[in-house]
Amino acid sequence: MLKKVFVKTFGCQMNVYDSDKITDTLKTIGYEKSENLNSADCFVLNTCHIRDKAKEKVYHEIGRVREVFLNKSKPLVIVAGCVAQAENTEMLKREPYIDLVIGPQSYHKLNETILQFEKNKMKGDVTDFDTAEKFNYLSKIQNKNSKISSFLTIQEGCDKFCHFCVVPYTRGPEYSRPFNQIIDEANMMVQNGSKEIILLGQNVNAYNYNNTKKIFRLSDLIMSLEKINGIERIRYTTSHPKDMTKDLLDCYKDSKKLMPFVHLPIQSGSNKILKLMNRKHKVEEYISTFDYLKKINEKVEFSSDFIIGYPGEEIEDFENTIKLIDTIKFINSFSFIFSARPGTTASKLKPIDEKISKERLKIIQEKLFRYSRLNNKSFENKYIDVLVENEIHGQNKLFGRNEYMNSVIFEGNKNLIGKIVKVKVTKTNQNTLIGELSEKNKFKAA
Ligand code: SAM
Ligand code: SF4
Ligand code: F3S
Repeated sequence: MLKKVFVKTFGCQMNVYDSDKITDTLKTIGYEKSENLNSADCFVLNTCHIRDKAKEKVYHEIGRVREVFLNKSKPLVIVAGCVAQAENTEMLKREPYIDLVIGPQSYHKLNETILQFEKNKMKGDVTDFDTAEKFNYLSKIQNKNSKISSFLTIQEGCDKFCHFCVVPYTRGPEYSRPFNQIIDEANMMVQNGSKEIILLGQNVNAYNYNNTKKIFRLSDLIMSLEKINGIERIRYTTSHPKDMTKDLLDCYKDSKKLMPFVHLPIQSGSNKILKLMNRKHKVEEYISTFDYLKKINEKVEFSSDFIIGYPGEEIEDFENTIKLIDTIKFINSFSFIFSARPGTTASKLKPIDEKISKERLKIIQEKLFRYSRLNNKSFENKYIDVLVENEIHGQNKLFGRNEYMNSVIFEGNKNLIGKIVKVKVTKTNQNTLIGELSEKNKFKAA
């Protein structure tokens, strides 16, 4: 009988992709994916280290698992992901309930590590940076997951060392997967039913693969995926403003499948703060990227990430961030209070008053939400293209996304899943567009 693995995932899309790979890998040694922790033989916690309390959250989760299994035999407990990489052996010492700790660049060693543990019960941690080997191994594992929208990691790690960020330490140096390996994986996803491919990397637009004859960039990947029948939409995340090269920008003119929604984190609208953060670009360069894209494709809209209360942020720096938001009118963004991360340069800087940071966060979020609501409202009474992803359980309603990743809900038949349909938006709120199918699509589904 197959054993059961329950995987819980924190963090970014790359962790979501990794968790799928972990379940695919474990399948080959007799574990099937379970949605139920209570009956799991193996519990994998895929962790994120990006902001504070990350470590405590992990121990808290493990404590919960221990309670669930209080009167039952203990599952195999594995901590994976970025906290695992950062803390490694420490975790085994602090929490004896954990059996194995494995970092993100060692997942190709997961099966072997589990089999060893099953044999000799020796606890251990594996945290080498073997990125090339990992992808070689994982790309040979067959997967039959059929998601309409699929993540595809093309690049890992980061060499930029922004002063606030742990990623270069938890994911290691930049690595770009071989071009053909990615195309093969995209083809497999299409065969399994995917219609949208979201290319992933901590620095996705730094993708740079040299096969000794040619250097392949993200733009080459986009234009090649464009030619694959069955792929309807292409997206990528997360990019760095410094790597928005002309070849990539021009894809917004040349590609019909690249969605006009650019998530481009800037973090601050103040050049002084960008310098203190070691972001390696200026606000003016960011704005000229936006202007160029708008010029070549007026449908383009931006979203971003902001860090509020970075050490040294004065009121005029904050006001510059507000000014930038009013200039770009980001349609959907994330904002966080600066969190000092162990081992980073910024963790040694004098923090600013927490009360001030909280007030600034409130102001900025109100502003960002206002632009999101306005953007959503602009769709009211208009027809939009929606890629239908799934049926909402228990209702005769479908869920999909428009070109800008907004969630769209409308009544419809489930045989529209996987299709791009026209939906008339009737109502909106901050997060969702509610609509009804165009008559033409109703007819098609009948
Ligand atoms: N590589 C992307 C870039 O350069 O913009 C960012 C990837 S990071 C995983 C996602 C977001 O987390 C960042 O854009 C930043 O806003 C936020 N973040 C990272 N470190 C942080 C910290 N120490 N405190 C608060 N937010 C942080
Ligand atoms: Fe972190 Fe992104 Fe900066 Fe790299 S470029 S250090 S991932 S914020
Ligand atoms: Fe978190 Fe690691 Fe992603 S720190 S945001 S899971 S790269």
